[in-house]
Amino acid sequence: MIMESKSPIVKHLVNRLRDAHCDAFTFRWLLKETAKQLLTECAEALPMSERKVPTWQGNYVGSFVDESKIVCVSILRAALPMQEGVMETLGEIEGGFLAMKRDEETHESRLYYDRIPDPKGKTVLLVDPMVATGGSLHDALELLLAREPEKIVTLNVIGAKEGVEKIAAAFPDVTVHIAQIDPVLNKDAYIVPGLGDAGDRAFNTP
Ligand code: PRP
Ligand code: URA
Repeated sequence: MIMESKSPIVKHLVNRLRDAHCDAFTFRWLLKETAKQLLTECAEALPMSERKVPTWQGNYVGSFVDESKIVCVSILRAALPMQEGVMETLGEIEGGFLAMKRDEETHESRLYYDRIPDPKGKTVLLVDPMVATGGSLHDALELLLAREPEKIVTLNVIGAKEGVEKIAAAFPDVTVHIAQIDPVLNKDAYIVPGLGDAGDRAFNTP
């Protein structure tokens, strides 16, 4: 299922990311803020539990996000600021990393590093700002689903219509929370209008 954000705050943050004059520090901060907003939008999918806490009025039983049942996985590199945002808000969840690089000729993604805590029975928040052809997200979802999580929710910033639709068709049980869907890919498989290369912009590489 695709859930495109309707929030004016999210649209504001995305359009600031598009600004070619946005420096790398601000770009990373905007990715982090957008991830926090998307986390709030997907919150109904998170596992909850009741807990007793001591307060100035005695014990109080309230609901909390069950952080022991959540893993946030980022697809390197550009997702790192998003993961930081999610893990700032939910400080005790587990973090995992998948490193993938798109081949510039074939546009196919290649996995070159995988360090993920066991997600079996847990909710996985899979973060990656860009969904272009959808190849990277597709491969990440296949890898994660084979490890039997309870559910997977993805948090993404900009997706090309064709890439997002490909993910929705291949993984009907996965919810894609995305800030903005853009119309097309160019011949180099970059999203248009998009924001350019998110990894390069976040980490100041040519
Ligand atoms: C970007 C982005 C996604 C991928 C999207 O990463 O962060 O992971 O491209 O493209 P796709 O949908 O066509 O697979 P990239 O491979 O450029 O790596 P980087 O973050 O290290 O720059
Ligand atoms: N990766 C990016 O960072 N941007 C795109 O537009 C496509 C892939």
